[in-house]
Amino acid sequence: MKVIRVSDYAELSRKAADLIAEEIREKPDCVLGLATGSTPEGTYKQLVAEYEAGKLDFSRVRTVNLDEYRGLPGSHPQSYRYFMDTHLFSRININKKNTFIPDGLAPEKEECEEYEKRILSLGGIDLQLLGLGRNGHIGFNEPGTSFIMETHPVKLTSSTIQANARLFNDPEEVPRRAVTMGIGTIMSAREILLIVNGEDKAEALQKALYGPVTPSCPASILQDHPALTVIADEEAFREIQACGS
Ligand code: GLP
Repeated sequence: MKVIRVSDYAELSRKAADLIAEEIREKPDCVLGLATGSTPEGTYKQLVAEYEAGKLDFSRVRTVNLDEYRGLPGSHPQSYRYFMDTHLFSRININKKNTFIPDGLAPEKEECEEYEKRILSLGGIDLQLLGLGRNGHIGFNEPGTSFIMETHPVKLTSSTIQANARLFNDPEEVPRRAVTMGIGTIMSAREILLIVNGEDKAEALQKALYGPVTPSCPASILQDHPALTVIADEEAFREIQACGS
């Protein structure tokens, strides 16, 4: 595991974007696994800036996203499709046909199987970007999820519903279900880049990187990945300093 400690969110975003840009330059038709949430917003902003400066070409890049809420169409402002279109895809020269996100309205079981086949047909994921949930979740793999799962439907925990309610007009609108790549799918990526910022993630980060590898902290399995890079800021490192890990 390679751990990069940064002072703040701006530096985290620059460093994460640099690693993604490097991957695209080395392999112009790479398959990027992408994430949503507040954490990667700055990274996407940096990538857009690089593209606008003429330093990055996304024309052959393919992407697969981690997850999507059930029941929201891609046109819904809180759907992850909408998030990716507005923060990244509509601002760069990627072919939208090469951007894949689970369809929140398609029949659940079939969609999961199709999504897994899609990833395989693309040749697998070269670099998977991940954020970290406050309870240690990755994608929407909540505590207790088996490490070998492929793409599957999930029932969100109340802590995740609560954490994500800030983005909805009414907390009642937060979907209760989602479809997510499984931990097995995530672990099959050739490289993983985990980005974490803020004090509210400090405990989860400590458990993920230095705690026991256990389904009760889904991100702890990342310790076993052969090519994991973690970029986290000082605030997120707070617990790790405190316990001297
Ligand atoms: C959501 C997403 C995750 C994301 C996590 C953290 O539940 N499904 O993929 O990593 O929350 O989000 P944030 O970066 O907003 O803290």
